[in-house]
Amino acid sequence: MTFSPSRYDTMQYRRCGRSGLQLPAISLGMWHNFGTNANHDVCRNMMRRAFDLGITHFDLANNYGPAPGSAEERVGQILKQDFSDHRDELIISSKAGYRMWPGPYGEWGSKKYLVASLDQSLRRLGLDYVDIFYSHRSDLNTPLEETIGALDQIVRQGKALYVGVSNYRGPRFVETMELVKARGWTPITIHQPVYNMRNRWIEEELLPETEKYGAGVICFSPLAQGVLTNKYLDPAQPIPQESRAADPDGYLQAEQVTPEVIAQVRELAPLAEARGQTIAQLALAWLLRDTRVTSALIGARNVQQVEDCVGALANLEFSAEELSVIDRLFPRA
Ligand SMILES: NC(=O)c1ccc[n+]([C@@H]2O[C@H](COP(=O)([O-])OP(=O)(O)OC[C@H]3O[C@@H](n4cnc5c(N)ncnc54)[C@H](OP(=O)(O)O)[C@@H]3O)[C@@H](O)[C@H]2O)c1
Repeated sequence: MTFSPSRYDTMQYRRCGRSGLQLPAISLGMWHNFGTNANHDVCRNMMRRAFDLGITHFDLANNYGPAPGSAEERVGQILKQDFSDHRDELIISSKAGYRMWPGPYGEWGSKKYLVASLDQSLRRLGLDYVDIFYSHRSDLNTPLEETIGALDQIVRQGKALYVGVSNYRGPRFVETMELVKARGWTPITIHQPVYNMRNRWIEEELLPETEKYGAGVICFSPLAQGVLTNKYLDPAQPIPQESRAADPDGYLQAEQVTPEVIAQVRELAPLAEARGQTIAQLALAWLLRDTRVTSALIGARNVQQVEDCVGALANLEFSAEELSVIDRLFPRA
């Protein structure tokens, strides 16, 4: 497979906290649209086009599908088909935390689960190591020392280069960083929280802490699963057939796309238009206005969506008036 020689020309790369790792400002995740029912060629084209646009980071987890594990299997096939000469240009991540197999060792944060799950992920992906491995959620019933100690061991074994945490609340993140410092363990390079205009919890609770401890932040669901786009704005077809809200396997439920939510998003349209952006581009640019955000982690169902999202990078500047319109529509947490 030959990729565009200009693939690094326009993407912006941001340093992940105070680490040596740089990530593309837009990364592509495989939570939806890469499972058993997905069209292999569409998946392949999305990954190839993404890489040609400078998206060097693909994000996975053990349970992405459906069925759980199938997204890693599919990406493993595509890496083999198209990316075998480019492994050193890619950052591939995986995670463990949610239910993956039956019994007490198939979820949460024990060492038993994390180590076994990563071994399974590596087999599915056909890789010797992942670049980033995450504890996918905080487990209050397992000693933090055990979960974070397992991440340290995984790096020392060469199965991951960097480690991170996802969905950890602010105080738990601080506890984690203090523990790592006290033990001299492998640093937590990155946090993966949800962040978008509709969910601004990290602004007060987490970003000051990630900055203080020098961790990067990659924000998932930056488009609120597709709500912060023009997708649901057509009154004649409020839930389009080709949408996550219409997909029985989709995490976004049609009931969540209420008339109130749509009215809010519709008010973004004039602002987006004035900036020469789509609503999706506006939502991504708004997220990336904060330089403490390393990367916006999008999902996509086709190549056009990937291209549209990358187009957000053409304008990341906001006037005070634009920001206050957004604050009025989507108040801070
Ligand atoms: N750590 C965690 O716990 C966690 C949780 C969730 C997600 N994640 C990660 O974050 C990634 C992204 O999450 P997400 O898929 O919810 O992100 P998202 O970017 O908020 O939503 C993706 C959806 O938005 C729509 N979309 C994307 N680009 C568009 C465009 N340019 N124009 C119109 N619609 C567009 C598509 O919806 P349609 O399918 O409706 O077309 C797409 O499936 C996941 O793949 C995963 O890697 C992590």
